[in-house]
Amino acid sequence: MSEAAVLTRPRTDVSHGGSILIIDDEAGIRESLETLLEFEGYSVESAETGEDGLARLNEHTFDLVLLDFALPDRNGLEILADIRARDSQLAVIMITAYGTLDNAVRAMQKGATNFIQKPWDNEKLLADVRAAVARRRVEEENEQLKRALKERYNFEHIVGKSDSMLKIFDLVGQVAPSRSTVLIQGESGTGKELIAKAIHANSARKNHPFVPVNTGSMPADLLESTLFGHVKGAFTSAISSKKGLFEVADGGTIFLDEIGTMSMETQAKILRVLQDRKFMHLGGIHELQVDVRVIAATNIDLQVLVREGKFREDLFYRLNVITVDLPPLRNRGEDVPRLVGHFLEKFSRENGKAIINIAPEALRPLMDYSWPGNVRELENVIERAVVLCNGPTVSLDLIPDHIVGRGSEAKMFEHRPDASLFEIVEDCERRLIVSMLEKCSWNQTDAAERFHIPLSTLNQKIKRLNIEIRKKGSKD
Ligand SMILES: Nc1ncnc2c1ncn2[C@@H]1O[C@H](COP(=O)(O)OP(=O)(O)OP(=O)(O)O)[C@@H](O)[C@H]1O
Ligand SMILES: [Mg+2]
Repeated sequence: MSEAAVLTRPRTDVSHGGSILIIDDEAGIRESLETLLEFEGYSVESAETGEDGLARLNEHTFDLVLLDFALPDRNGLEILADIRARDSQLAVIMITAYGTLDNAVRAMQKGATNFIQKPWDNEKLLADVRAAVARRRVEEENEQLKRALKERYNFEHIVGKSDSMLKIFDLVGQVAPSRSTVLIQGESGTGKELIAKAIHANSARKNHPFVPVNTGSMPADLLESTLFGHVKGAFTSAISSKKGLFEVADGGTIFLDEIGTMSMETQAKILRVLQDRKFMHLGGIHELQVDVRVIAATNIDLQVLVREGKFREDLFYRLNVITVDLPPLRNRGEDVPRLVGHFLEKFSRENGKAIINIAPEALRPLMDYSWPGNVRELENVIERAVVLCNGPTVSLDLIPDHIVGRGSEAKMFEHRPDASLFEIVEDCERRLIVSMLEKCSWNQTDAAERFHIPLSTLNQKIKRLNIEIRKKGSKD
């Protein structure tokens, strides 16, 4: 259908609404797209260059970007990457010249929503635009719903916008009002106690005590008297009777941390409380009844302990009614900048400073680091940086060496004391090339492009450095 036919076509559907940014250097293309899309009820802005387009994205919110592949300043793929780095959801339709399907395929691999080829068919283009805008709207609505849910359940002190954390917030929101036992699993420092507190705070028990017990840090007999209390004379040092934490937590929640390290005898007693809500003081003769919700946490896989005979299977099933699996921080990298912001604010306040920012070059290594100590480790790094920061911004020198990787270059010589500088440089080059090839799914053309070197040069280096091509990309 011709353009004119579309423009005079009676509008059968209501205005679609939505805002679109066109990034294209050809005035003719911009104008015809503007006319077409504005007629359809979209609000449209245009930019001639990639940089101008990015600047507009900073100023306004758009539902969709129509992005030309060949721009005068930077290539469309680079602009696409920049857009993706800012907004992983924004719909981007690439405009490619006829006969350059290759480019279109690459753009799709790099996160474009769709592509259209010049010259386009107006009907098809409008259908693609409608679909992309609608999808973006649905995604936004989902985000809002999730945010509303998060707010409803009062998780404001828990930071997380990664999909995995949003799922956890949903789950926590659902299980909090029940009385069910919850098992929270996750590496050290992932926020297990924080989640346990959120469950308690969002339950009907919130005005009763939340009692954390680190079951891993105490010898078995002390742990038992702590949990269940004792009568006077129950053991030599029991000079008076004492309430146990299960009584202290009556009406509320007890949080049994590091449950995997508990002795088999204590496990049996905990099982009894879970089954009957009954227990006895050490040395006592009367059974006591309590109304306590149990939340347990572990950083050891309890199923493995069950298999090894170190954890009671029946207790495992009692605890494992609802499981919350907290992912390690390295698997939710997108949360790192948010957590950094959260802790900068927290520690600036605590230290009586105006809110301190972080320089982009200081944030980058934090995003690349593997965080074996998870959120707790990140929290400590930011606390240190805020305390030592003299100005308004945390700079790279305030980030610990092992995170930035400073000094690691010289260490290469420690590992290979006999190697010359040339051999070490070759080693580095080999590693760089292999890592880029892996990133590009072993597509040499893509890797050469990312390195800004000709494909032939890359191939020579691959040969000279004896790099074995594991899996060839489709175009090589
Ligand atoms: N999502 C989060 N948002 C904000 N702060 C967090 C988050 N996760 C963890 N923290 C903070 O990180 C620190 C460690 O969290 P927490 O004590 O809950 O972890 P844990 O899994 O119980 O660790 P461990 O296994 O070492 O006991 C706490 O100061 C907590 O407030
Ligand atoms: Mg803990």
